[in-house]
Amino acid sequence: MAFVSQQEESLSTLLKESRAFQASEEFKKNAWANDPAIYEKAKRDPEAYWADWASQLDWFEKWNKVLEWNPPYAKWFVGGKINASVNCLDRHVRTEKKNKAAILWEGEDGRERVLTYGTLYRDVNKFANALKTLGVKRGDRVAIYMPMIPELVTAVLASARIGAIHSVVFGGFSAEALRDRINDAEAKVLVTADGGYRRGQIVPLKHDADYALMGTPSIEKVVVVSRLGIPQRMKTGRDLWYHELMNEAAPFCEPEKMDSEDILFTLYTSGTTGKPKGIIHTTGGYLTGTYATAKWVFDLKESDIFWCTADIGWITGHSYIIYGPMANGATQVMYEGAPDWPSKDRFWKIIEKYGVTVFYTAPTAIRAFMKWGTDFVEKADLSSLRLLGSVGEPINPEAWMWYYKHIGRERCPIVDTWWQTETGMILITPLAGITTLKPGSATKPFPGIEADLVDEKGNSVAVGGGYVVLRKPWPAMLRGIYKDPERYQQTYWNRWKDIYFTGDGGRRDEDGYFWFLGRVDDVINVSGHRIGTAEVESALVDHPLVAEAAVVSRPHEIKGVAIVAFVTLKEGARKAEQDTKKLAGELKEHVQSKIGAIARPEEILFSRDLPKTRSGKIMRRLLRDIATGKVLGDTTTLADPAVVEQLKHQYEEEE
Ligand code: WTA
Repeated sequence: MAFVSQQEESLSTLLKESRAFQASEEFKKNAWANDPAIYEKAKRDPEAYWADWASQLDWFEKWNKVLEWNPPYAKWFVGGKINASVNCLDRHVRTEKKNKAAILWEGEDGRERVLTYGTLYRDVNKFANALKTLGVKRGDRVAIYMPMIPELVTAVLASARIGAIHSVVFGGFSAEALRDRINDAEAKVLVTADGGYRRGQIVPLKHDADYALMGTPSIEKVVVVSRLGIPQRMKTGRDLWYHELMNEAAPFCEPEKMDSEDILFTLYTSGTTGKPKGIIHTTGGYLTGTYATAKWVFDLKESDIFWCTADIGWITGHSYIIYGPMANGATQVMYEGAPDWPSKDRFWKIIEKYGVTVFYTAPTAIRAFMKWGTDFVEKADLSSLRLLGSVGEPINPEAWMWYYKHIGRERCPIVDTWWQTETGMILITPLAGITTLKPGSATKPFPGIEADLVDEKGNSVAVGGGYVVLRKPWPAMLRGIYKDPERYQQTYWNRWKDIYFTGDGGRRDEDGYFWFLGRVDDVINVSGHRIGTAEVESALVDHPLVAEAAVVSRPHEIKGVAIVAFVTLKEGARKAEQDTKKLAGELKEHVQSKIGAIARPEEILFSRDLPKTRSGKIMRRLLRDIATGKVLGDTTTLADPAVVEQLKHQYEEEE
């Protein structure tokens, strides 16, 4: 595989150099997972193992079958009846956890709120009743477009309580992206806020939502949380204030008895076409998987203060802010804003202030901290930390070492957790009480998970490079793509029979450790955010002057990779080329307005033609090499068809 061999060299040096790291004896002794025999036990009888996890949750009715596997469709805990909000709230409220802090919230503006399990329970019950009065019924979709405030958690759990399917749309997405997701889900209600803070600026969510709502026929009501206290234009009969609804809502809402396989939520993620996929997660299996992994991977104890820095708009926030930790009754920090506001030590101040013990963040953030220098870190007291986590993209060994040394102060193990929106739960990860760590490796599959590395033919590769696949169903796996079963089959199950393809390439070393190398499809991972190149391309060609566009990635110090777009202008638009800088700026803006800031290209390069193979495929490898400066130092020569033609020939011969 060309993809793997490219990186083989740097990796083998790395494998040789990597030292072994382990948790302290004390950590191991106290860890939930510290007996290596659990791997064997789970492997011997995975169904009994997962059933054991499931039985730690509260069920209205027990399942009669653990797993029904009709590839590519799995059903877990068949016949079981359960409610996710009951497992995150009611069962704690019945115990001494009632007055335990569930959420220690901090706004970017410094505002603080503490929500106990008891208060959150009350809010969720009330909002569940409020949703009901708005006509939301079991199976209806509720779209949620919110800043990182506690009401976001309330809205999610209230939907779950009444059996409505939540569809959270990341607050950084544009109005158009929101509109498309609402329409795909045919959501009945939208829950949003007047806005939130990001780097001292206001993110005007309701204002953006109003644009989206001009094209969303399914939406009947809009609930607006007053986070900023900014007056809003409220559309009579449609828009309602959250606090007014809450004032009137009854305090108890009977939870719906959901079937284990009823849909809990959908979450949209990028794929290889321009249209995002609504990933379907169901109730019993998802909750079991996130509960189990939150407990073992993050080793959550009563005394812990867990902080996952992800936004709830992504799967990481769904699984490891809401469902996993809350099913465990954990205490968490939730922070609204940016890591560098008002200064670059905001995260460390938060860790110090709340005494965070387990900290879970992304490599892109770690690389930014590295760049900002150790001064910001050294001043903070980080002695409360005992375990660190990483997610979203491969963590380069340099970043791993920096994280280990400067944040963990060489005391804290690091769990590099590999998973996806589709997997719902962490699948490949160290268990700090057991696993010897290697910087840059996500190590081994979680007990009960059959991950493998295969070649083109689907044969297992014991040591070496290959595609990462999953051979057996797991409880939190996606159950499909919303309204698109064909795409589900085609995206994940068509390469090899009954084997799930992750889209990731990697390598397995002599110790059986996995080393992820990134995506092997046309999905790129910018700052840990998945973006389909096709999505950005279709946003570009939507611009009236653009004829054709091709998007590639190039390595970036902080983001991991950055987006570079090659654009061919329409015939008549060529005159505008004189002002290419201005036009490049305009196109970047255009992409941002279509998708959101995360998809904004770093650079736009104008080309008279896009180099294509004889069969008409865009030569992405050539474009990548141009984008990284490997060929054609002076990209303005792209405008010269002869130059592009010559390059094409070179690459065609090589290919
Ligand atoms: C990548 C985020 C290497 C991978 C939870 C995957 C990782 C995609 C890791 C899913 C990791 C995530 N090491 N790569 N620890 N974690 N990835 O759906 O390419 O936003 O396929 O889920 O991120 O991104 P998603």
